[in-house]
Amino acid sequence: MPHMTAFARNQWYVAAYAHEVGRELLGRTILGEPLVFYRTEEDGTPVALHDRCVHRRFPLSESPTRLDGDRIVCGYHGFTYDTTGTCVYVPGQKRVPRTARVASYPVVEQDSLIWVWIGDPALADPGAIPRAKHLDSPGWVTVRGMEPIDCDYGLLVDNLLDLSHETYLHGGYIGTPEVAETPITTEVDEGAGIVRVSRHMDDAACPPFYAKSTGIEGRITRWQDIEYHAPCLYLLHSRIAPVGVLPEPDGSDPNGFHTEITYAITPSADGKVYDFWMVSRDWATDDEEVTEFLRGNNHTVVMQDVDALNLLQKTLVTEPAGYQELSINIDTGGLAARRILARLVEEGAKPMEKVQ
Ligand code: FES
Ligand SMILES: [Fe+2]
Repeated sequence: MPHMTAFARNQWYVAAYAHEVGRELLGRTILGEPLVFYRTEEDGTPVALHDRCVHRRFPLSESPTRLDGDRIVCGYHGFTYDTTGTCVYVPGQKRVPRTARVASYPVVEQDSLIWVWIGDPALADPGAIPRAKHLDSPGWVTVRGMEPIDCDYGLLVDNLLDLSHETYLHGGYIGTPEVAETPITTEVDEGAGIVRVSRHMDDAACPPFYAKSTGIEGRITRWQDIEYHAPCLYLLHSRIAPVGVLPEPDGSDPNGFHTEITYAITPSADGKVYDFWMVSRDWATDDEEVTEFLRGNNHTVVMQDVDALNLLQKTLVTEPAGYQELSINIDTGGLAARRILARLVEEGAKPMEKVQ
């Protein structure tokens, strides 16, 4: 059933934006695990610990002012944990029980994102984290936000891999008739767990999202090239230009507008997902008005998806088990993603096998 996609545990997930993790405790639930995040005073390294005190299971993240240096002091009775999750102090006695520790999780800060690994820590390879360099590179400006959605994360994967919905759900914002009318090409790299879906429109209306931000008045060529690195990172390389303006033979493209739309799809719990969204551009980077327009307009677009997916989830849970879907060409990328996710879930269930 698509509204109950299992979790792939031995994978990296975006838990937060780098700017969200600091000297205040941040609580997030990832793959059903309650986690608490903060940065060390010493060198600002991000730390992720299990967010339940071993004593009476008080959520450590609800002890907001209780960082003592780099140690978390439980806000209930004062059990104190170091950055490895080891309890170093309990009240009323000298001896700290040997079992007094909470799990700590591998964390990597990269490209302005905080990535966490929930599965077998022995398999956590930071080199396997997919890159999104435009999020933290000079010459790029990014607007971003995060919306929690009450839906299975598989529904968000489906949504993002099929952009034909832009025409209907996002008409008047990013959708025009040509998006739904233009066939896609899909490429799947099963081994690397990457799905690519491309839609190149040669002569299309310019949607308000781009008309107002770029100033283009006529029709455009519009390229959408999706690169989904299962399970978490989704990149949409968007290129628009007035009709007739093509990249140079050497591949350079001084007259095209390039926008990188990034999502991190992070399962929170069954039926809950964090939808991290980012829009980056390397044009009109000094124009504050463009920045604010893209921030507001894209937030509206994201909320159209959020509302649709909340509704879809509510609807699906009332369906009898084993209901049939009907898939067509536009679903090729989404179906490939489901196959890859199913494989990653299976690999995560066998922790001795290294995920390639
Ligand atoms: S619940 Fe944390 S110290 Fe008692
Ligand atoms: Fe959408």
